[in-house]
Amino acid sequence: MLIRRHRSSDPRPSEITPRDVYQRRRDFLKTGVALGAGLFLPASTVADSSLDFSPGPFSTDEALTPFEDVTTYNNFYELGTGKSDPSRNADLLRTEPWTVKVDGLCANSGEYDLEDFLRPRELQERIYRLRCVEGWSMVIPWVGFELNRVLKRAEPLGSARYVAFETVMDPDNLPGQRRPVLEWPYVEGLRLDEAMHPLTILAVGLYGEELPNQNGAPLRLVVPWKYGFKSIKSIVRISFTEVEPPTSWNRSQPDEYGFYSNVNPDVAHPRWSQRTERRIGEFRRRRTEPFNGYGEEVASLYEGMDLTRHF
Ligand code: MTE
Repeated sequence: MLIRRHRSSDPRPSEITPRDVYQRRRDFLKTGVALGAGLFLPASTVADSSLDFSPGPFSTDEALTPFEDVTTYNNFYELGTGKSDPSRNADLLRTEPWTVKVDGLCANSGEYDLEDFLRPRELQERIYRLRCVEGWSMVIPWVGFELNRVLKRAEPLGSARYVAFETVMDPDNLPGQRRPVLEWPYVEGLRLDEAMHPLTILAVGLYGEELPNQNGAPLRLVVPWKYGFKSIKSIVRISFTEVEPPTSWNRSQPDEYGFYSNVNPDVAHPRWSQRTERRIGEFRRRRTEPFNGYGEEVASLYEGMDLTRHF
Protein backbone atom coordinates (compact mmCIF):
# COMPACT_ATOMS: atom_id res chain seq x y z
CA MET A 1 0.00 0.00 0.00
CA LEU A 2 1.22 3.46 -0.68
CA ILE A 3 0.06 5.06 2.52
CA ARG A 4 1.31 4.11 5.90
CA ARG A 5 -1.18 2.45 8.17
CA HIS A 6 -0.45 2.84 11.79
CA ARG A 7 -1.68 0.60 14.53
CA SER A 8 -3.59 2.34 17.28
CA SER A 9 -0.71 1.44 19.60
CA ASP A 10 1.74 3.39 17.39
CA PRO A 11 2.51 6.91 18.54
CA ARG A 12 0.88 9.51 16.33
CA PRO A 13 3.23 11.77 14.35
CA SER A 14 2.04 14.63 16.54
CA GLU A 15 3.29 12.75 19.62
CA ILE A 16 6.80 12.05 18.39
CA THR A 17 7.48 15.27 16.50
CA PRO A 18 7.60 18.77 17.91
CA ARG A 19 4.35 20.48 17.00
CA ASP A 20 5.80 23.15 14.70
CA VAL A 21 7.73 20.54 12.71
CA TYR A 22 4.62 18.41 12.50
CA GLN A 23 2.58 21.40 11.39
CA ARG A 24 5.13 22.36 8.73
CA ARG A 25 5.15 18.78 7.49
CA ARG A 26 1.38 18.90 7.30
CA ASP A 27 1.54 22.18 5.39
CA PHE A 28 4.09 20.62 3.07
CA LEU A 29 1.83 17.67 2.43
CA LYS A 30 -1.07 20.01 1.75
CA THR A 31 1.00 22.02 -0.69
CA GLY A 32 2.12 18.77 -2.24
CA VAL A 33 -1.48 17.76 -2.75
CA ALA A 34 -2.27 21.12 -4.31
CA LEU A 35 0.64 20.78 -6.68
CA GLY A 36 -0.03 17.15 -7.44
CA ALA A 37 3.34 16.02 -6.10
CA GLY A 38 4.87 14.28 -3.08
CA LEU A 39 1.55 13.15 -1.77
CA PHE A 40 0.62 10.21 0.37
CA LEU A 41 4.01 9.21 1.63
CA PRO A 42 5.16 8.96 5.16
CA ALA A 43 7.00 12.25 5.63
CA SER A 44 10.36 10.48 5.83
CA THR A 45 10.09 9.46 2.18
CA VAL A 46 8.51 12.62 0.86
CA ALA A 47 11.75 13.41 -0.93
CA ASP A 48 11.49 10.22 -3.00
CA SER A 49 9.93 11.40 -6.23
CA SER A 50 10.35 8.12 -8.10
CA LEU A 51 6.77 7.05 -7.37
CA ASP A 52 3.80 7.94 -9.52
CA PHE A 53 1.43 10.33 -7.77
CA SER A 54 -0.67 11.36 -10.69
CA PRO A 55 -4.14 12.38 -9.57
CA GLY A 56 -6.97 10.02 -10.38
CA PRO A 57 -9.41 10.77 -13.14
CA PHE A 58 -12.13 13.38 -12.51
CA SER A 59 -9.94 15.28 -10.04
CA THR A 60 -10.90 18.94 -9.81
CA ASP A 61 -8.41 21.76 -9.51
CA GLU A 62 -10.74 23.78 -7.27
CA ALA A 63 -9.26 24.94 -3.98
CA LEU A 64 -9.12 22.21 -1.38
CA THR A 65 -11.05 22.54 1.86
CA PRO A 66 -8.53 22.85 4.71
CA PHE A 67 -7.60 19.60 6.48
CA GLU A 68 -8.83 21.08 9.75
CA ASP A 69 -12.38 21.59 8.41
CA VAL A 70 -12.47 18.24 6.65
CA THR A 71 -11.66 16.48 9.91
CA THR A 72 -13.66 18.52 12.45
CA TYR A 73 -16.95 19.28 10.66
CA ASN A 74 -18.44 15.83 10.20
CA ASN A 75 -21.53 13.70 10.20
CA PHE A 76 -21.00 10.32 11.81
CA TYR A 77 -23.96 9.61 14.05
CA GLU A 78 -22.32 6.59 15.68
CA LEU A 79 -20.00 9.13 17.30
CA GLY A 80 -22.68 11.74 18.08
CA THR A 81 -25.10 13.96 16.16
CA GLY A 82 -23.24 17.29 16.47
CA LYS A 83 -20.80 18.29 13.72
CA SER A 84 -17.89 18.38 16.14
CA ASP A 85 -18.83 15.16 17.99
CA PRO A 86 -17.14 12.76 15.55
CA SER A 87 -13.71 14.37 15.92
CA ARG A 88 -14.09 14.71 19.70
CA ASN A 89 -15.19 11.08 20.05
CA ALA A 90 -12.99 9.70 17.27
CA ASP A 91 -10.98 7.46 19.60
CA LEU A 92 -14.10 5.49 20.50
CA LEU A 93 -14.13 3.87 17.07
CA ARG A 94 -12.03 0.70 17.26
CA THR A 95 -10.55 -0.09 13.86
CA GLU A 96 -8.41 -3.05 14.85
CA PRO A 97 -8.96 -5.80 14.14
CA TRP A 98 -11.09 -5.00 11.08
CA THR A 99 -12.66 -7.46 8.69
CA VAL A 100 -14.59 -6.85 5.51
CA LYS A 101 -17.12 -9.41 4.39
CA VAL A 102 -18.02 -9.67 0.70
CA ASP A 103 -21.06 -11.84 0.12
CA GLY A 104 -24.41 -12.27 -1.59
CA LEU A 105 -24.83 -12.87 -5.30
CA CYS A 106 -21.21 -13.38 -6.31
CA ALA A 107 -18.97 -16.32 -7.17
CA ASN A 108 -16.07 -15.25 -5.00
CA SER A 109 -17.37 -14.28 -1.58
CA GLY A 110 -15.15 -14.08 1.47
CA GLU A 111 -14.28 -12.46 4.74
CA TYR A 112 -10.98 -10.61 4.72
CA ASP A 113 -8.71 -9.00 7.24
CA LEU A 114 -8.43 -5.37 6.18
CA GLU A 115 -4.82 -5.80 5.07
CA ASP A 116 -5.76 -8.75 2.84
CA PHE A 117 -8.76 -6.89 1.48
CA LEU A 118 -6.53 -3.97 0.52
CA ARG A 119 -3.32 -5.74 -0.38
CA PRO A 120 -3.66 -6.67 -4.05
CA ARG A 121 -1.79 -4.27 -6.27
CA GLU A 122 -4.69 -3.99 -8.69
CA LEU A 123 -6.34 -1.65 -6.20
CA GLN A 124 -3.98 1.15 -7.28
CA GLU A 125 -4.50 3.82 -4.68
CA ARG A 126 -4.65 7.29 -6.18
CA ILE A 127 -5.60 10.78 -5.16
CA TYR A 128 -9.12 11.87 -6.06
CA ARG A 129 -9.78 15.55 -5.44
CA LEU A 130 -13.55 15.48 -5.44
CA ARG A 131 -16.36 17.81 -4.46
CA CYS A 132 -18.77 16.52 -1.83
CA VAL A 133 -22.07 18.19 -1.11
CA GLU A 134 -24.63 17.93 1.67
CA GLY A 135 -26.12 21.42 2.09
CA TRP A 136 -22.55 22.50 2.75
CA SER A 137 -19.76 21.43 0.42
CA MET A 138 -16.07 20.62 0.51
CA VAL A 139 -13.31 19.62 -1.90
CA ILE A 140 -11.34 16.73 -0.44
CA PRO A 141 -8.21 14.98 -1.73
CA TRP A 142 -9.17 11.39 -1.00
CA VAL A 143 -6.72 8.54 -1.19
CA GLY A 144 -8.51 5.52 -2.52
CA PHE A 145 -9.35 3.32 -5.44
CA GLU A 146 -12.31 2.55 -7.64
CA LEU A 147 -14.86 0.41 -5.85
CA ASN A 148 -15.29 -1.60 -9.06
CA ARG A 149 -11.90 -3.19 -8.47
CA VAL A 150 -13.08 -5.10 -5.43
CA LEU A 151 -16.48 -5.74 -6.97
CA LYS A 152 -14.94 -7.36 -10.03
CA ARG A 153 -12.69 -9.46 -7.82
CA ALA A 154 -15.85 -10.85 -6.20
CA GLU A 155 -17.27 -11.90 -9.59
CA PRO A 156 -20.90 -10.76 -9.28
CA LEU A 157 -23.49 -13.14 -10.70
CA GLY A 158 -25.79 -12.10 -13.53
CA SER A 159 -28.66 -11.83 -11.04
CA ALA A 160 -26.84 -9.17 -8.94
CA ARG A 161 -28.43 -5.74 -9.52
CA TYR A 162 -27.49 -3.79 -6.40
CA VAL A 163 -24.66 -3.49 -3.91
CA ALA A 164 -25.45 -3.11 -0.21
CA PHE A 165 -23.02 -1.70 2.37
CA GLU A 166 -22.97 -1.97 6.13
CA THR A 167 -21.09 -0.02 8.82
CA VAL A 168 -19.51 -1.70 11.83
CA MET A 169 -21.88 -2.45 14.73
CA ASP A 170 -20.22 -1.87 18.09
CA PRO A 171 -22.65 -0.31 20.57
CA ASP A 172 -20.33 -1.00 23.51
CA ASN A 173 -17.90 1.55 22.11
CA LEU A 174 -19.98 3.72 19.77
CA PRO A 175 -22.24 5.94 21.89
CA GLY A 176 -24.60 6.81 19.01
CA GLN A 177 -25.50 3.16 18.54
CA ARG A 178 -26.88 3.07 22.07
CA ARG A 179 -29.54 5.60 21.03
CA PRO A 180 -32.35 5.11 18.52
CA VAL A 181 -31.46 8.12 16.34
CA LEU A 182 -31.22 5.73 13.39
CA GLU A 183 -31.76 2.02 12.98
CA TRP A 184 -28.32 0.46 13.44
CA PRO A 185 -26.07 -0.50 11.79
CA TYR A 186 -25.94 2.31 9.22
CA VAL A 187 -26.64 0.79 5.80
CA GLU A 188 -26.44 2.12 2.26
CA GLY A 189 -26.82 0.85 -1.26
CA LEU A 190 -26.13 1.58 -4.90
CA ARG A 191 -27.39 0.13 -8.13
CA LEU A 192 -24.69 -2.16 -9.53
CA ASP A 193 -23.93 0.16 -12.47
CA GLU A 194 -23.54 3.11 -10.08
CA ALA A 195 -21.25 1.04 -7.90
CA MET A 196 -19.16 -0.01 -10.92
CA HIS A 197 -18.76 3.59 -12.14
CA PRO A 198 -15.14 4.79 -11.94
CA LEU A 199 -16.23 7.85 -9.93
CA THR A 200 -17.37 5.63 -7.07
CA ILE A 201 -14.41 5.41 -4.74
CA LEU A 202 -13.47 3.40 -1.69
CA ALA A 203 -11.36 5.80 0.34
CA VAL A 204 -8.65 4.71 2.78
CA GLY A 205 -7.09 8.12 3.36
CA LEU A 206 -7.28 11.84 2.79
CA TYR A 207 -4.72 14.59 2.50
CA GLY A 208 -2.00 11.98 2.16
CA GLU A 209 -2.77 10.48 5.53
CA GLU A 210 -4.56 7.44 6.75
CA LEU A 211 -8.31 8.10 7.01
CA PRO A 212 -9.10 9.73 10.37
CA ASN A 213 -11.69 7.82 12.39
CA GLN A 214 -14.20 10.68 12.18
CA ASN A 215 -14.07 10.47 8.38
CA GLY A 216 -14.93 6.77 8.36
CA ALA A 217 -11.76 4.79 9.02
CA PRO A 218 -10.57 2.44 7.87
CA LEU A 219 -12.64 2.26 4.71
CA ARG A 220 -15.50 4.43 3.44
CA LEU A 221 -17.43 5.02 0.29
CA VAL A 222 -17.25 8.27 -1.70
CA VAL A 223 -19.99 8.85 -4.30
CA PRO A 224 -19.42 12.48 -5.28
CA TRP A 225 -22.51 12.98 -7.46
CA LYS A 226 -24.83 12.01 -4.61
CA TYR A 227 -25.61 13.76 -1.33
CA GLY A 228 -23.09 13.02 1.37
CA PHE A 229 -25.19 10.55 3.34
CA LYS A 230 -24.74 7.93 0.59
CA SER A 231 -21.02 7.87 1.41
CA ILE A 232 -21.19 5.28 4.15
CA LYS A 233 -18.31 5.15 6.62
CA SER A 234 -16.37 2.38 8.37
CA ILE A 235 -17.59 -0.39 6.09
CA VAL A 236 -17.55 -4.02 7.26
CA ARG A 237 -19.76 -5.64 4.66
CA ILE A 238 -20.39 -5.39 0.94
CA SER A 239 -23.18 -7.58 -0.47
CA PHE A 240 -24.56 -8.16 -3.94
CA THR A 241 -28.36 -8.29 -4.03
CA GLU A 242 -31.12 -8.67 -6.56
CA VAL A 243 -33.53 -6.27 -4.87
CA GLU A 244 -32.95 -2.66 -3.86
CA PRO A 245 -31.33 -2.73 -0.43
CA PRO A 246 -32.58 -0.58 2.46
CA THR A 247 -30.69 2.63 3.20
CA SER A 248 -30.51 4.28 6.60
CA TRP A 249 -31.91 7.70 5.79
CA ASN A 250 -34.60 6.38 3.49
CA ARG A 251 -35.68 3.97 6.21
CA SER A 252 -35.73 6.78 8.75
CA GLN A 253 -37.44 9.51 6.66
CA PRO A 254 -38.68 8.05 3.37
CA ASP A 255 -40.43 11.28 2.29
CA GLU A 256 -37.21 13.23 2.61
CA TYR A 257 -34.51 10.85 1.44
CA GLY A 258 -34.83 8.56 -1.55
CA PHE A 259 -32.68 5.64 -2.63
CA TYR A 260 -30.91 7.54 -5.41
CA SER A 261 -30.16 10.85 -3.68
CA ASN A 262 -28.44 12.29 -6.72
CA VAL A 263 -27.48 15.93 -6.18
CA ASN A 264 -30.35 17.74 -7.86
CA PRO A 265 -30.93 21.48 -7.36
CA ASP A 266 -34.32 21.16 -9.09
CA VAL A 267 -35.76 18.84 -6.47
CA ALA A 268 -36.27 20.56 -3.13
CA HIS A 269 -35.95 18.68 0.09
CA PRO A 270 -39.43 18.90 1.73
CA ARG A 271 -38.00 21.26 4.36
CA TRP A 272 -35.47 23.31 2.35
CA SER A 273 -34.40 24.27 -1.14
CA GLN A 274 -31.44 22.40 -2.56
CA ARG A 275 -30.55 25.13 -5.08
CA THR A 276 -27.52 26.45 -3.27
CA GLU A 277 -24.76 25.22 -1.01
CA ARG A 278 -22.24 26.79 1.32
CA ARG A 279 -18.69 25.84 0.38
CA ILE A 280 -16.89 25.56 3.70
CA GLY A 281 -14.55 28.55 4.00
CA GLU A 282 -16.62 30.77 1.66
CA PHE A 283 -19.04 33.50 2.63
CA ARG A 284 -21.41 33.62 -0.36
CA ARG A 285 -23.48 30.57 -1.14
CA ARG A 286 -22.91 28.89 -4.50
CA ARG A 287 -25.40 27.46 -6.93
CA THR A 288 -25.54 23.71 -6.61
CA GLU A 289 -24.91 21.89 -9.85
CA PRO A 290 -26.88 18.89 -11.08
CA PHE A 291 -25.04 15.72 -10.09
CA ASN A 292 -22.68 17.99 -8.16
CA GLY A 293 -21.04 18.96 -11.46
CA TYR A 294 -20.34 15.36 -12.52
CA GLY A 295 -23.29 15.20 -14.94
CA GLU A 296 -21.12 14.58 -17.97
CA GLU A 297 -19.79 11.46 -16.31
CA VAL A 298 -22.93 10.04 -14.72
CA ALA A 299 -26.14 11.53 -16.16
CA SER A 300 -26.38 8.68 -18.68
CA LEU A 301 -26.88 6.22 -15.81
CA TYR A 302 -30.33 7.75 -15.29
CA GLU A 303 -31.50 8.18 -18.87
CA GLY A 304 -35.25 7.86 -19.12
CA MET A 305 -35.79 8.01 -15.36
CA ASP A 306 -37.99 10.63 -13.74
CA LEU A 307 -35.55 12.02 -11.19
CA THR A 308 -38.23 13.94 -9.35
CA ARG A 309 -39.85 10.62 -8.54
CA HIS A 310 -36.60 8.66 -8.10
CA PHE A 311 -35.04 11.31 -5.85
N1 MTE B 1 -21.75 6.74 7.67
C1 MTE B 1 -22.08 6.24 8.88
N2 MTE B 1 -21.75 4.99 9.20
N3 MTE B 1 -22.74 6.99 9.81
C2 MTE B 1 -23.14 8.28 9.53
O1 MTE B 1 -23.76 8.92 10.40
N4 MTE B 1 -23.20 10.08 7.88
C3 MTE B 1 -23.31 10.33 6.45
C4 MTE B 1 -22.09 9.82 5.68
N5 MTE B 1 -21.73 8.49 6.12
C5 MTE B 1 -22.81 8.81 8.25
C6 MTE B 1 -22.09 8.00 7.34
C7 MTE B 1 -23.51 11.74 6.17
S1 MTE B 1 -25.05 12.37 6.59
C8 MTE B 1 -22.57 12.52 5.57
S2 MTE B 1 -22.92 14.12 5.08
C9 MTE B 1 -21.20 12.02 5.33
O2 MTE B 1 -21.01 10.71 5.88
C10 MTE B 1 -20.21 12.98 5.98
O3 MTE B 1 -18.91 12.60 5.68
P1 MTE B 1 -17.70 13.50 6.26
O4 MTE B 1 -17.95 13.65 7.73
O5 MTE B 1 -16.43 12.74 5.97
O6 MTE B 1 -17.76 14.82 5.55
